[in-house]
Amino acid sequence: MLARVRSATLLGIEAIPLFVECDINRGLPGIHTVGLPDAAVRESADRVRAAIRNAGFDMPPRRITISLAPADLRKQGSGLDLPIALGILAANGDVPPHRLADLLVLGELALDGSVRRVPGCLPAALLARGSGIHEMIVPRANHEEALSVPGPGVHGVERLLDAVAVLRGERRPERATAASYQPSTHPPGLDLSEVKGQAHAKRALEVAAAGGHHLLMIGPPGCGKTMLARRLAGILPPLGLEESIEVTCVYSAAGLLREPGLLRTRPFRAPHHTISGVGLVGGGRLPRPGEVTLAHHGVLFLDEMAEFGRTTLDVLRQPLEDGLIVINRIGYSARMPCRFTLVGAMNPCVCGNLGRSDRPCACAPAMIAQYRNRVSGPLLDRFDVQVEVPPLSLGDLAQTVPAEPSATVATRIAAARHQSVAGPEPPVTPAGRRILHQAIRHLGLSARAHDSVLRVARTIALLEGATSTQPQHIAEAVQYRCLDKPAKHPQEADGD
Ligand SMILES: Nc1ncnc2c1ncn2[C@@H]1O[C@H](COP(=O)(O)OP(=O)(O)O)[C@@H](O)[C@H]1O
Ligand SMILES: [Mg+2]
Ligand SMILES: [Zn+2]
Repeated sequence: MLARVRSATLLGIEAIPLFVECDINRGLPGIHTVGLPDAAVRESADRVRAAIRNAGFDMPPRRITISLAPADLRKQGSGLDLPIALGILAANGDVPPHRLADLLVLGELALDGSVRRVPGCLPAALLARGSGIHEMIVPRANHEEALSVPGPGVHGVERLLDAVAVLRGERRPERATAASYQPSTHPPGLDLSEVKGQAHAKRALEVAAAGGHHLLMIGPPGCGKTMLARRLAGILPPLGLEESIEVTCVYSAAGLLREPGLLRTRPFRAPHHTISGVGLVGGGRLPRPGEVTLAHHGVLFLDEMAEFGRTTLDVLRQPLEDGLIVINRIGYSARMPCRFTLVGAMNPCVCGNLGRSDRPCACAPAMIAQYRNRVSGPLLDRFDVQVEVPPLSLGDLAQTVPAEPSATVATRIAAARHQSVAGPEPPVTPAGRRILHQAIRHLGLSARAHDSVLRVARTIALLEGATSTQPQHIAEAVQYRCLDKPAKHPQEADGD
């Protein structure tokens, strides 16, 4: 007899529909799987056999052929265990097959017949919703995740026998009521009030957050660059429902979802500088999301940016440009979103002391140039906001009055974002244009830098609630092009 079970496999962060077809026929007993299974799917046979026996059924002593369709799509993961087991039971007449047509099934089986969590249940729920499938069977551990969007009815099962009960019509599914999503406004810990001094860098952080501009911080070790970067996600506007669904899909597909239901805070990713290009942008034979996609709708922080390989960093240029990674495989392409705010931090020079008044910089000018060159010009150009973060002064360190909390800053940012969505862009006043052209001539700014200054100046105007972009907004924006200014020589810095 033949049975067909609907399931899904992941391609990047998307669930692709597939059918598990199961045929039991005369021949030597055994399970034969065809249709491009990966290692985990091939090993499924052993888990399924044990789980079926331990659930109290007999394995049919015949030849079982499992065909995964479409045949040309590579199938990954252990989520096909449960559909394969139900297919065998249905083909053997142990469970009624008629409910299978309207069910999408996902789950890994343990040898004792219990059902384990799998990646990709939210993408699968979206797939079911989009293709009009009415019910899903998922592991109990993925139950809330599958229920986090209104869509199909969900059976969260703990054991193979629970899934059998669903096919026998003995269990009712749960359904998501209207979305009860509430974004988290205060990510725990990490408040801006803990960062002392550094008013200029904090202001730059606020401008970057308000406009979604990429931010580069240059300063000696220990001045608070990492502290500041870690507090950016907390002042960005709260994660909206649609954004949350996208982010949760990414983490679900990557198998990194640790809490039930939708994620409510913006991601913050800080990959180590030894990461590979594929680790950064994603890929592999079975395409997996990289750090840029894990940072989608959040922050990607490259700490000690000069330590990343130059070729590794250069792979960032395309995702920064497109906000999307496309990985092509024969017949299919994985599309993974990656719209994030990039934050880079680097020392001013190899020894880290350039610009300090208390310690001399030991680097020759050529070394400094070489150090900065480790990050390519085109990538540096993407940072609309560039700030020098000075060493913390003794006065700042002794500061006991807590600085402004993240919540206050976030309110201003939300207001600016609201204006930028609701109203027209604040036009540049004639006086503003004059200042802009002067600055461009003075600093020899490129056309790209010109556009960047304008973008940032508009954000600053919006933060102020101004209806036009004025000279002081342009002047502040010009300050955020610190890399366009010629670097100071160590000797000059010493004399400061
Ligand atoms: N502006 C600051 N306010 C309060 N503490 C700071 C500040 N800057 C540095 N620190 C302290 O120094 C440590 C190192 O700071 P960090 O942000 O890692 O510096 P950087 O990334 O610039 O090397 C922090 O964990 C914190 O304890
Ligand atoms: Mg640091
Ligand atoms: Zn130095």
